[in-house]
Amino acid sequence: MEMAKQKLNFPSVDDPLWDEQHNMLTEHYHDVVDALEANDQNKAVAALEKFIESNSLHFEWEKLQMEDTGFPFFRLHTADHHLAELMLEGVLERIVNQGFESQKKSLVEDIPEWFKNHIDTMDRISINHVAQVHHGADPQSLWRIPPEIKNE
Ligand SMILES: [Fe+2]
Ligand SMILES: [Fe+2]
Repeated sequence: MEMAKQKLNFPSVDDPLWDEQHNMLTEHYHDVVDALEANDQNKAVAALEKFIESNSLHFEWEKLQMEDTGFPFFRLHTADHHLAELMLEGVLERIVNQGFESQKKSLVEDIPEWFKNHIDTMDRISINHVAQVHHGADPQSLWRIPPEIKNE
């Protein structure tokens, strides 16, 4: 299960505020894995509930950042959050009803995979946008293809 923990470390996005939030989520997630390792269903449920709660707060924080800066793909990003919330609630429900053995794959593979992909795509472009706006640059410039990768 030690391997699983390594897989749960979410990628850094080179922004201290966003990294701090993701690190906090990682900590809560490790509590879920610890409970799995200890084969303690009640602890797993409690830890997952805590993770879901802190995750919702994190999503809300990101939503505010995007709203404040007029992020153009706001709806896409928040829709992805909504999918994750549904996935997490589903896993929690199945743990309660069927026991966590049935949900181990989701917990140690599917969920961290979603977070890694999400952070590397949605979060990263949102962070770039927020940083550009806060530094007074034209956010539209983010969506132009940089000259160095143009094929000319
Ligand atoms: Fe995030
Ligand atoms: Fe996000």
